[in-house]
Amino acid sequence: MAVIFPRWSNWIFPIVFGLVGPVVTVAVISGVWYWVSPEFTDVGYQPEQPVAYSHKLHAGELGIDCRYCHNTVEQGAAAAVPPPATCMNCHKVIKADSEKLTLVREAAAGGDALVWNRVHLFPDYAYFDHSVHVSATIGCVECHGRVDQMVKVTQAEPLSMRFCLACHKDPGPNLRPHSELTNMAWTPEDSPEFDPHASGRFPDPPQHCGGCHR
Ligand code: HEC
Ligand code: HEC
Ligand code: HEC
Ligand code: HEC
Ligand code: HEC
Repeated sequence: MAVIFPRWSNWIFPIVFGLVGPVVTVAVISGVWYWVSPEFTDVGYQPEQPVAYSHKLHAGELGIDCRYCHNTVEQGAAAAVPPPATCMNCHKVIKADSEKLTLVREAAAGGDALVWNRVHLFPDYAYFDHSVHVSATIGCVECHGRVDQMVKVTQAEPLSMRFCLACHKDPGPNLRPHSELTNMAWTPEDSPEFDPHASGRFPDPPQHCGGCHR
C-alpha cells in the first residue's frame, strides 16, 4: 500500500493543535480583550438623552455649580442626578413654554418620569464613593473631564483599574483647595499658596485589592 501521509506528518496535528492553536487563541483573546476593555470602549461613550439638556450652557455659560444639581456628591457614594423639580426652579419662568422642555414639565407635574440614560457604566464588583474623593479635595474634572464644555455628556476618562491606581499611588499632584472642587478650569498656578499638607492629614488612598473590591 502506498504511503499517503509520510511519517513526519504525524507531527503536524500535535503542532497545529498543541502549539499554533493556543498561540492563535491567546492572540485573538487578547486582541478582543483590548478592544472591549474599558480602556478602549468607554472613553467617548455618549448616549442620547430624552431632553436636550446642555452642561455647556448651564454649568459653563450660566455658571451653575455642579452641586446645585448633583447635590449628594459631598455626602454620598453616588452623585444624584437632579429631579425635574430642580429644573423647574428656573424653567417655570425661563423658557416656560419651550417645546424642548415638554418632558421636564410633564414629569414635574406628576406625569411619566424623566429617565436619563447613564453615561458611566461602572462594574458592580468595584466600589466607588464620591464623598470620600470630594472631601479629600479631588476635583470633578480629574475623573469627568471638562463637563462644562460638553453639550452632551461624554465619558472622558477610562475609569479603569489602571486609571484609579495611577492616582492612588500618588494623589498629591491631584489635590486642590476645597473652594476649587467644581472649578473645571483651575490649575495649580491659580493657587500658589495652596499646601495639601496644611490640613494635617494627607490622604492615603487604598492600593490593596480589598480597598476597591469589597
Ligand atoms: C442644572 C443642573 C445640572 C448642573 C448644574 C450640572 N449637571 Fe451634571 N447632569 C445633570 C443632568 C440632568 C444629567 C443627566 C443627563 C445628562 O447626562 O446630560 C447630568 C449628568 C452628569 C454626568 C453623567 C452622569 C452619568 O450618567 O454617568 C456627569 C459626570 C455630570 N453630570 C457632571 C457634572 C459636573 C462635573 C457639573 C459641574 C461642572 C455638572 N454636572 C453640573 C444636571 C446638571
Ligand atoms: C475620583 C474620580 C471621580 C471624581 C473626582 C468624581 N467622580 Fe463622578 N463618577 C466617578 C465614577 C467612577 C462614576 C461611576 C460610579 C458608578 O457607576 O457607581 C461617577 C459617576 C458620576 C455621576 C453619575 C451618578 C453616579 O453617582 O453614579 C455623576 C452625576 C457624577 N459622577 C458627578 C460628579 C461630580 C459633580 C463630581 C465633582 C463634585 C464628581 N462626579 C467627581 C468618578 C468620579
Ligand atoms: C439656574 C436656572 C436654571 C436651571 C436650574 C436649569 N436651567 Fe435650563 N436654562 C436656563 C437658562 C437661563 C436657559 C437659556 C434660556 C435662553 O436661551 O434664553 C436654559 C435653557 C434650557 C434649555 C433650552 C431651552 C430652549 O428652548 O432653548 C433646556 C432644554 C434646558 N434649559 C433644560 C434644563 C434641564 C433639563 C434642567 C434640569 C436638569 C435645567 N434646564 C435647569 C436656566 C436653568
Ligand atoms: C485623582 C485621584 C484619584 C482617582 C482618579 C481615584 N481616586 Fe480613589 N481616592 C483618592 C483619594 C485622595 C482618596 C482618599 C484617601 C484618604 O482620604 O485617605 C481615595 C479613596 C478611595 C477609596 C477609599 C474609600 C473609603 O471609604 O475608604 C476607594 C474605595 C477609592 N478611592 C476607589 C477609587 C476607584 C474605584 C477609582 C477609579 C474609578 C478611584 N478611586 C479613582 C484619589 C483618587
Ligand atoms: C483603586 C481601586 C482598585 C484597587 C486598589 C484594585 N482594583 Fe481591581 N479594579 C478596579 C476597577 C475600577 C475595576 C474595573 C475596571 C473596569 O471597568 O473594567 C477593576 C477590575 C479588576 C478586575 C477585572 C478585570 C479587569 O482588569 O477589568 C480584576 C481581576 C481585578 N480588578 C483585580 C484586582 C486585584 C487582584 C487587586 C489587588 C492587587 C485590585 N484589583 C486592586 C479598581 C481597583
